[in-house]
Amino acid sequence: MKKLLALTLALCMVLSLCACGGTKTETKTETPATEAPAAEPAAETADVKTYNVGVAIYQFNDNFMTLYRNEIEAYFKTLETETEKYNVQIVDSKNDMAEQSNQIDTFITQGMDVIILNLVQTSSADAIIDKIVAAGIPCVLINREPLGDNGDESYAGILDNATVCYVGADARQSGTFQGQIVADLENHGDINGDGKISYVMIEGDPENVDAQYRTEFSIKALTDAGYEVECLADQVGNWDTAQGQQIAANALTQYGDQIEVIFCNNDGMALGAYAAIEAAGRTVGKDIYLLGVDALDECVEMVNNGTMTGTVLNDHIGQSHTAVDVAVKALHGETIDNYYWVDYVMVK
Ligand code: BGC
Repeated sequence: MKKLLALTLALCMVLSLCACGGTKTETKTETPATEAPAAEPAAETADVKTYNVGVAIYQFNDNFMTLYRNEIEAYFKTLETETEKYNVQIVDSKNDMAEQSNQIDTFITQGMDVIILNLVQTSSADAIIDKIVAAGIPCVLINREPLGDNGDESYAGILDNATVCYVGADARQSGTFQGQIVADLENHGDINGDGKISYVMIEGDPENVDAQYRTEFSIKALTDAGYEVECLADQVGNWDTAQGQQIAANALTQYGDQIEVIFCNNDGMALGAYAAIEAAGRTVGKDIYLLGVDALDECVEMVNNGTMTGTVLNDHIGQSHTAVDVAVKALHGETIDNYYWVDYVMVK
């Protein structure tokens, strides 16, 4: 009898062990003892640090800066770990410097750990950077480079502060590429063969030095290569498609077939200029050339199908990733440089 009882008990134990074998509890205890304790306390006890990041964009209503800001947000997400999170707040400064100044005050009051700033007015850089530095917050300036006093020197507000830097692309390069694309054409942009390249220039907002540099260096590339140029019209379209269209339409009405090349400081305005060119019954690649900068998807497609002569990649991915990487460095208390440059790439 005792023997039978012992056997039954043993059988029960075996059965209950087998039953447990499939459960999660059992799976856990099967994990090698050395691994489990190491992983669990880390997840349970380590502090999760959330950094507050304030981003002010000069205006949301801008094709290029929309790609740029979306990429800032997306890239911060990819950098999150179990222990480090980023609470990213992006505000629209609506192309209004007073509004942006208030937004920066709010960021400071909210205790942002870093600020990424796309200035509305580079001419107001001093006042705004002083506030950020005084609050002890690192600042990464993007897209609109403040210049030194005589226009083409490095800006003291960056050089004087170890926690302020600029991330951007040297717009002289993009202008030069635009000019080179025209110089490389078989007729070098001189469609009517009168010995000169007659062009219209549509400029971006002068608060961004990119506008000045692209205007100057696109033409310089042509004159440096020995070509004669004639400027028929040169107007500010503020990076805006509708304004680009209006300026191009007026120029086409006024100068007609004399216009051989339309240079636009960005693709947004080139899209507008293209609409005007179409409406005027002109054909890109045949009786007129059209250049932009940024390499927006739709413009790369136009270059590929011949409805745009060329554009220049303004690498928003490279720039936004660099800006975020530098911001993270600053958050970790690492030393940052004053300037970070990302190359342009010719698209033709
Ligand atoms: C871009 C423009 C954009 C501007 C905003 C430039 O670098 O090429 O498309 O509108 O930045 O500041």
